[in-house]
Amino acid sequence: MNEFYQKDIISIKDFNQEQLEKIFASTNKIISLNPSNRREICQGKTLGYLFYEPSTRTRLSFDAAMASIGGNSLGISDISSSSTQKGESLADTVEIMSIYSDVLVLRHTLDGSSRFAAEVSDKPVINAGSGTEEHPTQAIQDLFTIKKEKKKIDGLKIGIVGDLKYGRTVYSLLYGLGNYDVAVHLISPESLRIRSDSVYEIKKRLDFTESTNIEEYIDELDVLYVTRIQKERFPDEEEYLKVKGSYIVGLDLLKKMKDDCTIMHPLPRIDEISPEVDKTKNAKYFKQAEYGKYTRASLLGLTLNENGF
Ligand code: NCD
Repeated sequence: MNEFYQKDIISIKDFNQEQLEKIFASTNKIISLNPSNRREICQGKTLGYLFYEPSTRTRLSFDAAMASIGGNSLGISDISSSSTQKGESLADTVEIMSIYSDVLVLRHTLDGSSRFAAEVSDKPVINAGSGTEEHPTQAIQDLFTIKKEKKKIDGLKIGIVGDLKYGRTVYSLLYGLGNYDVAVHLISPESLRIRSDSVYEIKKRLDFTESTNIEEYIDELDVLYVTRIQKERFPDEEEYLKVKGSYIVGLDLLKKMKDDCTIMHPLPRIDEISPEVDKTKNAKYFKQAEYGKYTRASLLGLTLNENGF
């Protein structure tokens, strides 16, 4: 039996290197299959999504992924038009969604929301972002992108810049990178350093340095992972304004980087990467979004097929 069958995907911490590599191999298989063979993978299966926070890529890539493997999706992406407005609980909404679908994809403002949903649902739950805590499918997409672009993960020097306090993609990426032998440089304003309650957990998994200066290691990096300042998660606007626009990756900074440094971003971008960078060979954030469709198709295929595909 395929070990991912009917399994929840709540935290990237639940995946070891061998499992990640299996997912990457299945993703490569998805990419290589012709469209009609691809459509057999989840024929007749339904994905149900519940998005309590805005999303463009994650929801669309799940939709596109499911369609590409022959399944369909239904769900709620604007919670204000759902019965949540009438007071329906998350538990009841999840329970109902489990009746109508074979797998549930949940994005919610609260840490722990996906784990809670997995307890309620008898269908597998995929965490598509839980508060500031985690975004495991984004990390799988990010690790796959690194592997595709650099042909390896071990031995790389990876810079992660921006909002390291509230950015959930950062936490999932760090935990995921903990399966590999990498050197990580964390770059953020002092007030947006990684949360102290997670430092111990991250230190157990990998070596990292912290800095406020993006130029400090810029010429050594193989990958620069840029994140936006998470305005909506700040307790007050004043604090946000102090750090807004702290780092801008433009052509001048690019000149100081290794010629083949890969620039990534989970998107959406606000102002942290100048549009001129988009046309350079280093910019891989749109490719990264494309890989998100394939990694999610692979995860759905593995979750919904007892014997894999
Ligand atoms: C990220 C998220 O939702 O955490 N977006 C995404 O899924 N690609 C990043 C962000 O919102 O900054």
